[in-house]
Amino acid sequence: MTEQVAKFMPPEVEAFLGVPLFEGITEDAVRALALAAEEAVYPKGELIFREGELGDRFCVIGDGEVEVVKGLGTPNEVVLARLGSKEFFGEMSLIEGQPRSASIRAARTSIIYVLTNQAIARFSRFWPEFHSTIIFNIAAALSRRLREIDRAVASAGQAPVG
Ligand code: CMP
Repeated sequence: MTEQVAKFMPPEVEAFLGVPLFEGITEDAVRALALAAEEAVYPKGELIFREGELGDRFCVIGDGEVEVVKGLGTPNEVVLARLGSKEFFGEMSLIEGQPRSASIRAARTSIIYVLTNQAIARFSRFWPEFHSTIIFNIAAALSRRLREIDRAVASAGQAPVG
């Protein structure tokens, strides 16, 4: 019985453990963050964020896949990236205080864990030693994304002209 109790792990905690964004943070602190998150399920095709909206939350993908879409519903609509399980989105508005840079659409049924700005602020007050770890991990992810964009721009520039 005791063993069964010890093995039980809420799904949001299971989803948060092993997320690269939380690398360097103790398991207790990851649990606290996970338990502060709200779970939402989005069916395929449903919009999670709309480009231009104000953003007061950011999201971790528990299970699923989302598309990052620029110019949704316009002739210039383009899918910038696809993000899968254990990846995150919504950090740009959080950091810059700017409207959403792109729309986010579920590419298949997706379980999303939502952390509000207030939940993150509360976490930072209780665990100040991990605030900079999370910011560093976000910076590393932004750097990876920029690297991918640089690669795509460079290879588009190499395409034969004419
Ligand atoms: P935000 O601007 O808050 O809302 C839209 C989100 O899409 C943005 O935060 C990032 O999390 C994500 N995003 C924007 N551009 C890219 C990209 N090129 N690659 C991956 N994710 C992106």
